[in-house]
Parts: sequence; C-alpha cells; structure tokens
Amino acid sequence: MSISRLSSRSRILHSLSILRLACLIGIMFGILAIKGGCATNPFSDMFGKEDTRLTKGPFLLGVYPGRAALMWETETEGPCKLYYGKEQKLDKYVESVPETNQSGEEAVKKLAFIHKVWLEDLEPGRFYDYRVTGPGFEDKIYRFLTVPENTDQVRFIVYGDSRSRPSVHRRLVELMIKKKVDFVVNCGDLVTKGDKYEQWGPQFFEPLKGLAESVPVYIAKGNHEGNNGNYEKLLIPKGQENSFGFDYGPVHYFCADNVTEGLKDEVQLELVIADAGASDAKWKFASYHVPSVNFGGHWSAWGYPDALPGLSKAGVDFVLAGHSHMYERFRPVAPPDGADGSYVTYITSGGGGVFMHSIKPNVYHAVAMKKHHFCLFDIKGDKLTMDTIGIDGGVIDHIEVIKNAGSLDKKYLRSAIPMKEMLDFQKTNLDKQD
Ligand SMILES: [Fe+2]
Ligand SMILES: [Fe+2]
Repeated sequence: MSISRLSSRSRILHSLSILRLACLIGIMFGILAIKGGCATNPFSDMFGKEDTRLTKGPFLLGVYPGRAALMWETETEGPCKLYYGKEQKLDKYVESVPETNQSGEEAVKKLAFIHKVWLEDLEPGRFYDYRVTGPGFEDKIYRFLTVPENTDQVRFIVYGDSRSRPSVHRRLVELMIKKKVDFVVNCGDLVTKGDKYEQWGPQFFEPLKGLAESVPVYIAKGNHEGNNGNYEKLLIPKGQENSFGFDYGPVHYFCADNVTEGLKDEVQLELVIADAGASDAKWKFASYHVPSVNFGGHWSAWGYPDALPGLSKAGVDFVLAGHSHMYERFRPVAPPDGADGSYVTYITSGGGGVFMHSIKPNVYHAVAMKKHHFCLFDIKGDKLTMDTIGIDGGVIDHIEVIKNAGSLDKKYLRSAIPMKEMLDFQKTNLDKQD
C-alpha cells in the first residue's frame, strides 16, 4: 500500500516537473515565435507562423512538364533566393532581384518589390518542394507537382469574376482546396480596379492562399484588371504573353486576352482559333473574359459572327468566359450545316465573388443560375465530367460526355442548337449589349 502511495505521489511530482518543463519550453518557444527575425529559426514551421516578409505569394503562375513559374512580393528591396528540389531536398536555388512597380504610385514603388522566377530543368510528374528566403527571413516550404508526361487524366477548376468581395471569393477557394485539382483557370475580373495596386493583395492574393502556392492559377485577363501594367507585372511570367496555351494530359487549354486597350478583336480571335487548330489534344478548351455567347448581364457576343464557326472549325470543345456575373451553360452549338467541326459548349462562369446579375432565361440555356460557383472538370481519357459547385458546396449542374473517334456522344448532342439559329438569335439581341 505505502509503496503504491509513494509511487503514485512520485508519479504526480514527476508529472508536475514535466508539466513545468513543458511550460518553460512553451514560453521560450513563444518568445522565439513572437520575436521572429531569426533567419534560421528552426521552430518557425512548428508554430505555423513562418518568419516571412512576403507581402504577396508565393504564387504559381504556371507549371509545365519541365519548368514552373512563380512570383512573390516583398516590402524590402533585397534579393531573394528560392530553394527547391525533389523529395524534400532543397538542393537547388534560383536567385531573384526584384522589380519595383515603376508604373504605380510613389508609395507603391517604395513598398512593392515583385519577384518572378522560372525553375528550369525539372522532371515531369514529380513533386518539388520549395522555400523562398530573403535577407533575414525564410518562408514556409510548399510543394507542387510537375505535369506528368504520359497521363490521360486531369482535374481542374474554371471560374471568373472573383473581384470585389474577398469573403465570398475565399469561401469558394476553401471549397476548391478540397477538390485536389491539377490547375485552376480564372476567366478574369480579379479586382475592382486593377490600376489601384493596393487592391491586389486583399481581393486576389489573400483569398487564394492555401491553393495558389501548390496549384497553378492561369488567367484570362479581365477588363477590371486595368491598363497601367499592374496585372502584367504581377501575373505574367517573364517571356510570356497575356495570351498563352498549355497542355495537361488529354487537355489543351488556351487563355486569351480579349480586353486590353488597343487590341483588335479579330486578331485575338484568330489567335484562339489558330492555337486550337494546331493542337491534336483530345479535349480542347479556351477561356477569354468577354463571352461570345451570353444573354443577360452584359449581353456579350465577342467575336460575332466569326467566333462560332471559327471555334467549331478549330475543334474547340468548351469555351468558358466571365464578365457577366452568372452561371450560364448553353446547349452545345452544332457546326455550320454541311461543314466539319466540333460541337462547342459555351459557359459563362462569372460567379467568383462579385455581385450577381439576374438570369434572362432563353431556350438555348441548358442550365442558368444566379449563384456564386466554380466549374470542376474531371477528365479520364474519353470521359469528361463537369460538376458546377455552388457557394454552399452543393452541385448545381452536372454533365457527363464521352468522346469517341473525335465525336461527342449522341445523348449529349441530342439538345444541340443549329449554329445558324444561334447566330440569328444573337443578332436580334446584339442591341442589348452594354
Ligand atoms: Fe465582371
Ligand atoms: Fe468584366
């Protein structure tokens, strides 16, 4: 009995000593975490409060089989090093000297130092870890996957118009994170007024935290991004144009800029058509901000009347745009009578955060809804599935399409619209455009 009492007392004393020691260590760690500023603080990740000086990013601008583009922003001028490597060995680095935002206001020039780098000579289909470091700080370690060389599967999200209400944008991003996708496309209108540099952090970079460090976000520029160069400085990798294409397994995707001041619509449309026509991918996608088929909102018919026959001739399967704040999926539009070409599905996905426009129902809508959302595509070889996810997490639209020998299945095409009918309908509505 007494031995038992003694041992339980000593156990209690022992436990108290451990508790005191734990508290002491906790306080010491707490001081370290609060104090910060130590370049090699080994506990920074344990507290989840890395010793970072990044004011934007890191943000993946593009990931390809053999290279990746990243950006981040600091508020101090010093150079940074981005360490990276496979299998958690950060054994390589690129050095980066920042650009100041010369086109911005004086206050911005002093505080915003934008870094953009390419990581070269990567291996396809491999996980890479990376960490940004700079004078007196190091950021967290993040991981991305390079595009596999031979895969017939891909999963991705398309959405648009995420501007102006960051809390709604953030709620959607939290749902997106759970979907584990390979890439994201944003169809533009990222901020209320892109010429105001201070809007880019709260409206675009901050809501995308937790996603854009590991998954590339490709963008089709929107009219709200502005024309003073902020968009290009922040989000276009060195050596890339505003309009660009990329491949992932069975998908070829082209993002086109149809909004920058001074661009000629017909030249941009020709770019989209030429890019799709040159690809032999099984599934071809295009995104640009101002839609070619849209009734309600801004009533857009960008590229009319040449866009519809041109995109069909080039074999495009899906065109996703934004600009009008709604979800609008049209019945597939058939190739012109007697001509070869694809059946094109046009979707307006402008519900990423901004206020929503009312729906103007018409017989050509397959589904149309006034609801914040994003489109989730899942492609496995010949089979494409799309679930459109509403802000509450539920599925608001669902399609399954099979493509065999270049043709979509008859069930999906049963509701197809003759192209002439769609062009005539657009013509009668063109006067309602903003
Ligand atoms: Fe918009
Ligand atoms: Fe817009």
